[in-house]
Amino acid sequence: MTATLASAAASTGSPLWFLTRSTALVAFVLLTVALLVGLFATRRTAGVPRFASQALHRNTTLLALGFVVVHVATTVLDGYVPVGWAAAVLPFTSAYRTTWVAAGTVAFDLAVLLTVTSLARARIGLRLWRGVHWLAYALWPLALVHYLGAGTDARTAWGRWLAVAAAVAVAGAVAVRVAAAVSAASQAPARRAERGAPVRAAGR
Ligand code: HEM
Repeated sequence: MTATLASAAASTGSPLWFLTRSTALVAFVLLTVALLVGLFATRRTAGVPRFASQALHRNTTLLALGFVVVHVATTVLDGYVPVGWAAAVLPFTSAYRTTWVAAGTVAFDLAVLLTVTSLARARIGLRLWRGVHWLAYALWPLALVHYLGAGTDARTAWGRWLAVAAAVAVAGAVAVRVAAAVSAASQAPARRAERGAPVRAAGR
């Protein structure tokens, strides 16, 4: 019964409504790729120079944001569900799936904040930029919650598999990143001592 309703919902609607759903899925995939690349863009990974991974991170994020803008605009313009312009930026203002859409709204607000602060990084300074950029770790789970709660295609088997694959990839990448940070922190005193030894010897 649930499967029948899901497939009925997935096969009805105007071209704008299909655009809403397809741009949503592309945005979600791009956002996932941007996060995965971003997790490793701070260091030289598997022979990829830092400038290349950072450029890929920046471009996939900007592309994802572009798809989110089209996703939101087509949702509102289509009118298939009662979602107004306010819901694009103000959480809990959508009459349709209020909480699930609110998760998308906060994710969108965060995506704009992260993009603007990244483009202004030279002006605002590295410290503030880095502080704000930690919010990226909240953005992706919010987008996932929004996808699973609000999405029509998320109710299909392939829609759920897409979410599972993305979640496994992100969880794995975060684990690798945390392990690398812990190992770097534990080796830091030894490396400092190595670098410091000749200086102290010369000073004697
Ligand atoms: C970073 C921000 C966002 C991302 C990555 C995103 C992504 C997604 C995804 C992947 C879906 C599921 C599509 C499906 O299963 O068919 C979806 C559904 C939806 N989104 Fe967003 N979204 C975002 C922001 C927003 C905002 C701000 C709004 C409010 C205007 C919104 C409104 C909706 C609606 C109404 C649906 C349900 C469409 C359906 O029934 O399939 N989204 N979104």
